[in-house]
Amino acid sequence: QFDGHHSVWLFGYGSLIYKADFPYLERRPASIANWTRRFWQGSHDHRGTPEAPGRVVTIIEEPGAVCHGMAYLVTPEVFTHLDHREKNGYLRLAIPIAFEDGGSVEGLVYIATPDNTAFLGEASEQEIARHIARSAGPSGPNSDYLNHLANALRELGRHDQHVFEIERHLAALKKHQP
Ligand code: BEZ
Repeated sequence: QFDGHHSVWLFGYGSLIYKADFPYLERRPASIANWTRRFWQGSHDHRGTPEAPGRVVTIIEEPGAVCHGMAYLVTPEVFTHLDHREKNGYLRLAIPIAFEDGGSVEGLVYIATPDNTAFLGEASEQEIARHIARSAGPSGPNSDYLNHLANALRELGRHDQHVFEIERHLAALKKHQP
């Protein structure tokens, strides 16, 4: 409840960290426990095409893991916008969100589960880097998405081994074939 409006905390772990193209009431670094970020979802509409989907992040359950990101306090209308922006297999899940500076709240997160048709699943970081290097869609090169996300996580001071490992492989690929 906020100002008589039904506001909701939304946790972002992917493009929402660096691209907030919607109005919000508050923005706070946060994390979710027992989930980990993985480039296991296919993107037919943003960073790839239906014929050649790119790879974008989803969250996978992993006991003991912590996924860092950014939480936004938004009005429900924002979900109408985001449900459109983030179509292609993502559902909303209710989840406890922990703020980095203390406190927690029940909120929502977008998740793409293995049962959605665009799900690509596990691959090595090197294979994922090769896949990203050759993919592009209406939102631009898949590598821009990876680099924006890696930079945003560095700015948050949050090391993400999976993301940074893919970034390292991608940089090596570009060096050898510019
Ligand atoms: C996120 O940043 O949390 C996100 C972005 C796009 C789709 C799903 C989740």
